[in-house]
Amino acid sequence: MSDDILRVEGLKISYAVGTSKVRAVDDATFSIPSGSIVGLVGESGCGKTTVARGLTRIMAKSASFDGGEVFFDGKNLLSLSEPDMNELRWRDIAFIPQSAMNSLDPVYTIEKQINEVLIQRGGYNKTDARARAEELFEMVGIEKQRLGDYPHQFSGGMRQRVAIALALALNPKLVIADEPVTALDVIVQRQILDTLKSLQDKLGISVILVTHDISVVAYVCDRIVVMYAGRVVESGDTTTVLTAPYHPYTMGLYNAFPDLQSSEGLLTPIEGHPPDLSNPPDGCRFAPRCPFAEDRCRTSDIPLIDVGGGHFAACLRSSEADALREQAAKPETWAEMA
Ligand SMILES: Nc1ncnc2c1ncn2[C@@H]1O[C@H](COP(=O)(O)OP(=O)(O)O)[C@@H](O)[C@H]1O
Ligand code: SF4
Ligand SMILES: [Mg+2]
Repeated sequence: MSDDILRVEGLKISYAVGTSKVRAVDDATFSIPSGSIVGLVGESGCGKTTVARGLTRIMAKSASFDGGEVFFDGKNLLSLSEPDMNELRWRDIAFIPQSAMNSLDPVYTIEKQINEVLIQRGGYNKTDARARAEELFEMVGIEKQRLGDYPHQFSGGMRQRVAIALALALNPKLVIADEPVTALDVIVQRQILDTLKSLQDKLGISVILVTHDISVVAYVCDRIVVMYAGRVVESGDTTTVLTAPYHPYTMGLYNAFPDLQSSEGLLTPIEGHPPDLSNPPDGCRFAPRCPFAEDRCRTSDIPLIDVGGGHFAACLRSSEADALREQAAKPETWAEMA
């Protein structure tokens, strides 16, 4: 669709580990509509960070693309030269890495670190850089007088705001934030997410918010992309997907996290862990943990199909989703898998 800022098709990324390969992202397909905030969610080890880094091509040395395409604003990112890709970073696509708030350089003031982006990458002169840095601080809700402070003088939440300010420095079209509120308490999480959402609205940018916490997606994202074991298993409009999920993993994930807006509600964990990606199971990778698995699930290829209205799911039993959802709401359904 032409109003998508980003389109990811059949993306495959592997890590070389010894003499073998771990396929951390295996045939991931999703798109990011312009001006939307999209949550990329799944448990730890499902390939979210690998996707996020793949989109920016800032990857570990051992990582390689094994297939697929990434279209950003009409360009195929995977075929750009490294200098062309480098031009795009910060200016068009900004990345806030996992633990960004802890990776600010402790020996330099925040202003110096913002200047590095504004002056060296953005071509600002010193006076304009100061004005822009003040504007950025105002945007993320920090007093401009604090530009001269060092990272240790800020709380975790404030440092995360600084990381957002840095990402926005050169007016990117797309911001990718990897676990931006993990390790912050719930009140600060909400404040940061509110800031991110209001900036996204105001600036009309697109945001990919990577998180293991589906309640973060429920709180702030327009769309959701659920990953499991390197694959996209469900995607669509957040309200539609979370009100009526088609994939049992999404149903389970939703039961397993507390609502960000209230601490009530019984939590039901999904027993077990995602599979080892150096040797993933055949068929549906969720089958070993799925209360609804049938024999055919363990042998068939499971396509991501459109279940209506731009809502996609990769489950062989998607035609029975209403009944499965009713069962998934009962804790005993999941307890039987223990
Ligand atoms: N540098 C690396 N070398 C080898 N394997 C890696 C590396 N980084 C991640 N992996 C593996 O890739 C898989 C996906 O990891 P990651 O993308 O970090 O997941 P997530 O962000 O969802 O927690 C995991 O199985 C992880 O062990
Ligand atoms: S394909 Fe089968 S095992 Fe996989 S999620 Fe659907 S019902 Fe469960
Ligand atoms: Mg991660």
